[in-house]
Amino acid sequence: MDKTLKREYEKLKQEIAYHNYRYHVLDSPVISDAEYDRLVSRLRQIEALHPEWVTPDSPTQRTGGAVAEKFTKVTHPRPILSLASAFNEQDVRAWYERIYKLDERVAQSAFVLEPKIDGLTVVLHYRNGIFVQGATRGDGEVGEDITANLRTIRSLPLRIPVAPEGPKPPEYLVVRGEAFILIKEFEELNKKLLEAGERTYLNPRNTAAGSLRQLDPAITASRPLVLLTYSIVYAEGDVPQTQWETLQYLRALGFPVSDLSQCCRHFEDVLASLASWLEKRDHLPFEADGVVIKIDDLRLADELGFVGKDPRGALALKFPAREVTTVLRDIVVNVGRTGVLTPNAVLEPVEIGGVIVKQATLHNFEYIAEKDIRIGDRVMVKRAGDVIPYVIGPVIEARTGKELPYWPPQTCPACGQAVEHFEGEVAWYCVNSACPAQLVRNVEHFVSRPAMDIVGLGIRIVEQLVEAGLVKDAADLYYLRKEDLLKLEGFADKKAENLLAAIENSRRQPLSRLINALGIRGVGEVTAADLANAYHDLDSLSRATAEELQSIEGIGPNIAEAIVDWFARPTNQRLLEKLKAAGVWPVITEAAPAKAGAVLEGLTFVITGTLPNYSREEAKELIQQYGGKVTDSVSRKTDYLIVGEAPGSKLTKAHELGILVLDEAGLLRLIRERGGENI
Ligand code: IVH
Repeated sequence: MDKTLKREYEKLKQEIAYHNYRYHVLDSPVISDAEYDRLVSRLRQIEALHPEWVTPDSPTQRTGGAVAEKFTKVTHPRPILSLASAFNEQDVRAWYERIYKLDERVAQSAFVLEPKIDGLTVVLHYRNGIFVQGATRGDGEVGEDITANLRTIRSLPLRIPVAPEGPKPPEYLVVRGEAFILIKEFEELNKKLLEAGERTYLNPRNTAAGSLRQLDPAITASRPLVLLTYSIVYAEGDVPQTQWETLQYLRALGFPVSDLSQCCRHFEDVLASLASWLEKRDHLPFEADGVVIKIDDLRLADELGFVGKDPRGALALKFPAREVTTVLRDIVVNVGRTGVLTPNAVLEPVEIGGVIVKQATLHNFEYIAEKDIRIGDRVMVKRAGDVIPYVIGPVIEARTGKELPYWPPQTCPACGQAVEHFEGEVAWYCVNSACPAQLVRNVEHFVSRPAMDIVGLGIRIVEQLVEAGLVKDAADLYYLRKEDLLKLEGFADKKAENLLAAIENSRRQPLSRLINALGIRGVGEVTAADLANAYHDLDSLSRATAEELQSIEGIGPNIAEAIVDWFARPTNQRLLEKLKAAGVWPVITEAAPAKAGAVLEGLTFVITGTLPNYSREEAKELIQQYGGKVTDSVSRKTDYLIVGEAPGSKLTKAHELGILVLDEAGLLRLIRERGGENI
């Protein structure tokens, strides 16, 4: 009886490990979650009857390790080496030249490229296929025993081979890998920690390290750690002699191995592949800080020896950093168009990805308090793609005690009036409508591309006009005379004429753009278009009640209130009178109604590749029909790139510029989401 039960038990363990592997390593389960749960509960049942059968490789033993006082030390069977870094193609070539000079066989060797995952090195020991110990890298000679924590990682095999048909592992096998957390999970975890009022992590790497060094494995178990393995540190028995075969071998045993890795026959192929690795970076679900280039022939790599702790046979080509630390010198406060105050970090200048960053956003005052950011702190700053640089948080460990806590200002830094805080909002506002900082922002918004689109009227000129007292509200733009402009610094005949012509042109902008230009809180391009369609001119819109406004789809009580409020203010009424007197008063006549859904108005599209259902011309017509503009080449002015099959260089350009990319279905969705009809 016990014998059959024992057989069932062993089989169950194997089966569960296999399904676990299908789910967590291969991402392709072959049974349902319910079936899996059933197998596990049967296993638990047997283990309850026979606790003496339970071995550490049982799937039930992933969690439940004891809480430790501290970690014990583990001496690695071989030094856990590090990697020399390269920062550009030239460095990579120089590396090759160096090792070729040492050993000409390098010219015959293949190379393996792997993602350099920004996680935590782990060293995993298997005896007779059973996971017996796991350690951190430590100083490369001695690490810390984190076995109980590592067991909680679902993709880590507790027994190898996981699949019955896998190769028989050597008696003693030590594998090296990287434990990390996916970017998405990192963001979710931080959100949860923030909600719980706990300290958040700076980045995924930091999170993985913090999670693995928890003394209570139950906490580690609650952290979504994953694993990828890439080398064999030590083996008593036969193992492959090349890096590429090692990766296949580890995979066959059931270890998670990155499927991005690539084998290059020759060094020239390595160079040719590097650009595509840089591109891959932004699409990876995890943080990678570079690509590792390895000599495929492991014996040759070994013979090349090392310099310090860096083996000569491998090299990490580092991606340009996106996160760096620097000192927060000061916090300054900007006043936005709606009077909202935003804190900005003044930083000790620092290079991030080829750009010198001196300022970064701190989002809002609550963020500063939540993250406990202090002036003088060493802070982590991130700049990625087209994202505005922002302060992630302080490096608490670097505190000296001289840092100063920060309190939000009580008065507006531009006009000195007391600031206000509205119930339920995080933001602080300057409610002085005559505040010069707000005026600059307001005019800036009025002339911007999706609003009145006055070309050539940038922020500097707006500031000049406001400072000189020529512009006290946006309507003053239409009263500017050439002689006024000539008095300003940097203005000669031509520049003044061009600016006046651009302002003149803007008189003909449609009503929806003018409504958007007014800068009513909550009214953007889409709502402005809806309002134009519903009211046809500013006179009738100004008479609308909050109730009426709410009957328009997409307008809730807050926006309705903001609109009524805006029209009720005397300063705004004066602005409207001046606009009307200047002839800036677009009206939609019944004879020429605005298209029932000019929902793409103000947006510029570029189309590339072959779309599945629309020809290029048809797609262009469709976009235009909904008020969008289609141009031929991708530039900073492009809002969306629509891609079909075989997209070509426009896609690369769009990625470089951080432009949003949609396929045909995405375009249709966009139109629908913006309220486009008949689609
Ligand atoms: S190879 C001799 N391969 O990068 C082998 N390292 O110092 C040296 N890393 O923290 C390491 N992904 O854990 C190698 N595919 C990869 C890697 C990788 C990430 C980490 C490694 C260490 C650092 C290199």
